[in-house]
Amino acid sequence: MAYFFKEPSRTFAEYLLVPGYTGPEDTPDKVSLKTPLVKFKKGEEPALSLNIPLTSAVMQAVSGPELAVALAKEGGVSFIFGSQSIASQAAMIREVKSTKAGFVGSDSNISPKATLRDVIKLRQQTGHSTMAVTENGQKDGKLVGIITSRDFRESRVDLDNSLVEDYMTPYENLVVGKDGITLSEANDIIWDHKLNQLPIVDENQQLVAFVFRKDYEQHKEHPQELLDSQKRFIVGAGINSRDYKERVPALLEAGCDIFVIDSSEGYSCWQAETIKWIRDNYGDSVKIGAGNVVDGDGFRFLAEAGADFVKIGIGGGSICITRETKGIGRGQATATIEVAKARDEYYKNTGVYIPLCSDGGIVQDYHMTLALAFGADFVMLGRYFARFKEAPNKVVTVNGSYMKEYWGEGSARARNWQRYDVGGEGKMTFEEGVDSYVPYAGSLTDNVGLTLSKIRHTMCNCGVLSIAQLQKEAKVTLVSSVSISEGGAHDVLVRDNNVESRQG
Ligand code: IMP
Repeated sequence: MAYFFKEPSRTFAEYLLVPGYTGPEDTPDKVSLKTPLVKFKKGEEPALSLNIPLTSAVMQAVSGPELAVALAKEGGVSFIFGSQSIASQAAMIREVKSTKAGFVGSDSNISPKATLRDVIKLRQQTGHSTMAVTENGQKDGKLVGIITSRDFRESRVDLDNSLVEDYMTPYENLVVGKDGITLSEANDIIWDHKLNQLPIVDENQQLVAFVFRKDYEQHKEHPQELLDSQKRFIVGAGINSRDYKERVPALLEAGCDIFVIDSSEGYSCWQAETIKWIRDNYGDSVKIGAGNVVDGDGFRFLAEAGADFVKIGIGGGSICITRETKGIGRGQATATIEVAKARDEYYKNTGVYIPLCSDGGIVQDYHMTLALAFGADFVMLGRYFARFKEAPNKVVTVNGSYMKEYWGEGSARARNWQRYDVGGEGKMTFEEGVDSYVPYAGSLTDNVGLTLSKIRHTMCNCGVLSIAQLQKEAKVTLVSSVSISEGGAHDVLVRDNNVESRQG
């Protein structure tokens, strides 16, 4: 006879946290959201940690380079989508890794023999009025000067017959930083010489990057940013269990910090084979998460296979129709609780702590806190990030409202059959995801700031200052269907501010 689980599978909206004692020390500014990203032995530090417990979903509509940089600035990690060619995924990883925090590659470059008309054209294209003059006109050419719109008066010169080299500030008169200086050293030079930007050059006078005064100030506003040892943003990538032998080396070469096998169902021999290949070829130096699973059996299998973290969730994603199409899955809250039990047991028996990622189905910000309380170490979000400016999906207007397009990896639009692959012929036979719209919500920084503030406040209500403490000490209650309605505004007529302000 089939095995029947005793409890129904439940979702986050069915639970609430019951406050614990809040002492004078339990204030939001003291809450640490630092959390392990990869497995570690008891008493040791993980090789990679997140400063905030958020990662962005391995999806075409979510994790592109711009969002990856914005999220790493806040302390989280993006997993760049794998449903694209190896070359274009590697280019995206390279783009993130070349955006060194505070050091930016020069996007406005011109040759000394170009005309002032060319300078104006380039300014219109890039919107930047300061340009590097390099011997070959490329961003990594030999720096011979800088030209800005203050160097000539458009109305007084013959734009077509005046050369950049006659108007630029030549290299001898420039203040430059040497490659290898730290951001704060670069900033000292900027202040000492009252500059707006500092070109950084290597020993051959080749241009490496710029440090802009305004970017440094912005950098100071992101104390949680997640950087590697060379001060580059940390970034991950989704891979599949078909072409990993070509994809992984190319992505490593591009600078990828961590991988995840992106699959809707990860309790499979294909995942074990993929991890084994990584271990055989790179040992433990290459980090790889696996999933998705929804019970202890799936967790133990991936733990034994050597996964660095395990991802939980089948069928809970906002765009997901896997449960309807295939009848597989489990409520996300129950799945997280059950997998966390297996993880804790594994830790007790082996002394190896494997971080868990709760993936999909987060609707309210407090669902993230619940996922953490239930044992997840971080969450993965698709819909949440798809709403932001930095996501690679388009803004459109629908019935007069600004929306962003959001489509599942299993939709006909993404055609990511590798994610749903169970062996056999490599093609998509039916859809497991939909194509949809989500409301446009502005910048990632503003939204993530607000979300984290809510998480910190809830943790203070629970009297805890770290995620590990929350996992140990949280008190959780199930809510009855009747009491759910008590949770929102009820038995009042909510005032419509828009109507009132129109009426004056
Ligand atoms: P969301 O945060 O609720 O939008 O869920 C995002 C998660 O849904 C992703 O991280 C994937 O695990 C999962 N997902 C992405 N695309 C699909 C799909 O087409 N079908 C089913 N699940 C999907």
